[in-house]
Amino acid sequence: VKAFKSTALASRLAENGHRGFCCATVREMLGMAAAGLGHDLLLANESLDLSRLTEVVESGVARVTVAVDSEETIAAAVQARIREALIDVTVGMPRCGCEPADAGRLAELARSQGLEVRGVMGYEGHLMREPGDTKADLVRRSMELLLEAADAVGGDIVSGGGTGTWDVNTWVTELQAGSYCLMDTEYTAHASDFENALFVQATVISKNDRWGVLDAGLKAFGMDHGDPKVLDVGDCWFVSDEHITFGLAEGASVTVGDRVRVVPAHVDPTVSQHERLHVVDGDEVIEIWDVDLRGW
Ligand SMILES: Cc1ncc(COP(=O)(O)O)c(C=O)c1O
Repeated sequence: VKAFKSTALASRLAENGHRGFCCATVREMLGMAAAGLGHDLLLANESLDLSRLTEVVESGVARVTVAVDSEETIAAAVQARIREALIDVTVGMPRCGCEPADAGRLAELARSQGLEVRGVMGYEGHLMREPGDTKADLVRRSMELLLEAADAVGGDIVSGGGTGTWDVNTWVTELQAGSYCLMDTEYTAHASDFENALFVQATVISKNDRWGVLDAGLKAFGMDHGDPKVLDVGDCWFVSDEHITFGLAEGASVTVGDRVRVVPAHVDPTVSQHERLHVVDGDEVIEIWDVDLRGW
């Protein structure tokens, strides 16, 4: 859910058979539950702010499972009267997750405090962009760590994977992929089964015979994966707070007021900067979806 942050888009996935959804923030969990999409929600992230989910759990509006990787996060889940958890295990990426060898102890601790431990999760985010010939092998080694933890933890869920490893990660029982819904310039190189569907439509607000300026800049794009790609009219030279300056392609001409499509380099932090998604068929807007799960 964190890639698109929209219950309208999530509803489309549900209509097409998705039953479980994976979220990164409490806000996403609450919004999905309120939208009636709470059949099986996983907060695949550590949080010490879980009491905001108590009502959802107790009212039965949604099934809530949270990731835990420490005594503190287990205590936060217990205190918030969360009923179900996964033990989050580090599988090579220096981020959240306990050491595989500690997973059994944490599962026992969680169970002793009344949590049902449904299994494990481990995100191999450091491998999403590995070249095709080595990716499968590296993912296998990473998932061996997760399976070792799964043995110690018990339960029937092994949750992990992403858009870059969906086709090679055959060890997980559920995939946490989300970028595939919209994609971006960076990811299309690493997950060629999916097409880009996300554009920021910007307007030419100034131009001369060498460059043009668009009215979308750093506040409209996630920039950590590089510059966005200006389509058809030229190349992005640089991005500033409110602007993209692009060099006019040979033979291209633009007029002030022209609208230009720009493809973001990173989907998640781009979507989270916009209030709505316009669903288009050619130039016709056929639906407008709120990006209603922004914030925390
Ligand atoms: C915990 C977790 N699982 C899975 C993913 C994979 O998502 P994506 O579809 O972007 O590869 C992410 C992305 O950052 C993540 O943080």
